[in-house]
Amino acid sequence: MKFRSRLVVSLDNLAFNYSEIKKMAPNSEVLFMVKADGYGHGMIPVARFAITELGIKEFGCATIGEALKLREELNDLEFDIYVFSDIQLELIENADIYLKRRIVPVISNVSELDYILHTSEFKNFPICLKFNTGMNRLGLDPSEAPLIVTKLKQHGRSSVHHLISHYANASFSMNTNERNILQRTRFTEIKQFFLDSGIQLERTSQSNSGAIEQNFGFEDTHIRPGLMMYGPTSLSSEVKSEGHFQGKLVSKLETYILRVFEVKKGEVVGYNSTPALADGIIAILAIGYGDGFFNRYSGAHLYHKGFTGTIIGRVSMDMTHVFFPIESKGKIRAHEIFTIWGEQVGDLLNFSLETKTIPYELFCALLPRIPRVYRLN
Ligand SMILES: Cc1ncc(COP(=O)(O)O)c(C=O)c1O
Repeated sequence: MKFRSRLVVSLDNLAFNYSEIKKMAPNSEVLFMVKADGYGHGMIPVARFAITELGIKEFGCATIGEALKLREELNDLEFDIYVFSDIQLELIENADIYLKRRIVPVISNVSELDYILHTSEFKNFPICLKFNTGMNRLGLDPSEAPLIVTKLKQHGRSSVHHLISHYANASFSMNTNERNILQRTRFTEIKQFFLDSGIQLERTSQSNSGAIEQNFGFEDTHIRPGLMMYGPTSLSSEVKSEGHFQGKLVSKLETYILRVFEVKKGEVVGYNSTPALADGIIAILAIGYGDGFFNRYSGAHLYHKGFTGTIIGRVSMDMTHVFFPIESKGKIRAHEIFTIWGEQVGDLLNFSLETKTIPYELFCALLPRIPRVYRLN
């Protein structure tokens, strides 16, 4: 069957990105973030490949539902799963999921820690703690470290399985951004406090893509890349030059041209009758907001056969109109495959800038109507 639009996922490029990360951080273990359906790339096939071909053994989900799916669909494989935010530890039925499916909830407040420490079934369960060093979202407060150490000791715990923090500004300079410096300092202090108090830290991690790209966080046992594994940089334009990573885009979003027709300046196109601003041609693409390709992308540029097109008018549920200059007449044709992103990381980044979004959101927005097709050479 030939799909109307599809996301072609290059597992070769995923392997390339991972090997580049390992070159930068040869001594760090990778906890690969595959939440939100593997950033839209398909969590199950991506994680299966990462385990069997890349040897990655630890994965990060956001919700217990994602984690359960990962465990159930890859139950033939050996790997660890963390749930980072929506852990729902207060629901009694979830205890069984954590205990029997070997899924580790990331604890980010004292009451969750109390629950684990006071529930006999969790007696030997790995404790993973996340500190808020300045992200100010979830996380234990650094001032709670003494209380936590006391509680751990009272319950005979002499080690923490994984001590975690998360950068808010890793897309900015790790050397000069004040928040990054503060978060790094606080995390170092917290780690030292645990060690000085006689609590062993089996694993520690703080760096996400932006920090890893700037070679930060390699003193910890683990790094936690998400976006960079899928190719794009997460560095802002001011610090791109400080980046040490040039990834290959793992995804290629393809659609095809349903129809091409010529328009004169002022002729109208689609819902709400948007007029063409010049003579040119219109290519109707087989993609729309029913695929996760949104109306707010109108006005952004797309490229085909060396011509620059502009998304014109309202994006509809199943179709998008792209205006091309008249010189492209006869050269852009119906039924051609049209790549929205995928050839160059830069095209995706430009598209995300023009549409006032970020690659994370472009990826995650893609809906199930877009089949994910996997390629491995
Ligand atoms: C706790 C945590 N670690 C790591 C990551 C990976 O971040 P990035 O995709 O920027 O590498 C995320 C993503 O949001 C996260 O929430």
